Amino acid sequence: MTQDELKALVGRAALDYVPSGSIVGVGTGSTVDKFIDALGEALKADPKRVAGAVSSSVRSTERLQGLGITVLPAESVTELGVYIDGADEIDHAGHMIKGGGAALTREKIVADLAQQFVCIADESKLVEALGKFPLPVEVIPMAAAQVIRAFAKLGGSGKVREGVTTDNGNLIVDVTGLRILAPAQFESDVNQIPGVVTVGVFARNKASVCLLGTSAGVKTLSF
Ligand code: 5RP
Repeated sequence: MTQDELKALVGRAALDYVPSGSIVGVGTGSTVDKFIDALGEALKADPKRVAGAVSSSVRSTERLQGLGITVLPAESVTELGVYIDGADEIDHAGHMIKGGGAALTREKIVADLAQQFVCIADESKLVEALGKFPLPVEVIPMAAAQVIRAFAKLGGSGKVREGVTTDNGNLIVDVTGLRILAPAQFESDVNQIPGVVTVGVFARNKASVCLLGTSAGVKTLSF
């Protein structure tokens, strides 16, 4: 199976985690696009399949609205049953690196509303230790150089992502050269660097379940 087919497989499988008639939290990325496609198909059979969605990006919002799904502002919701999102890396404990699509801040906010975080990913995303994928960090523009110097002290090499402004008007610094062995501690430490809005390590609120697309089918990892 191609990577695209694996993404479609887990996108469809994620529907099983969405209670009928509920409001679902929706992440961002090419794997989530497959989930949104599957949701669109399900709505054709049952127009009440979901009552609406809370979205983590302009990109996903536009896609959801294109299917006629009501997108509610996060601030109008106090709790979601489930949040569905992809990952750039996920380890065997459910810690993730996210933000390859620059949507990490809103993803962390919407994920925090949800009781359950269902990560959908193809098998290439499963790693022993986080850090091979360049770590995305959303930063206030005036702090970018300062944040890059702070990462240098941690052994990382940061670079501003060219041509990218986040949905929140900030920059993304991608950091290479890290091996993140204690993700929750690392997340807390990076949150202390002035000018950091969000670090792309999702460890304090990690995945509850990962639906991993493999050539043998969907493998379910529970954490
Ligand atoms: C966006 C993300 C995505 O979930 C992550 O980049 C994975 O994307 P894809 O499903 O396209 O591989 O964190 O900010």
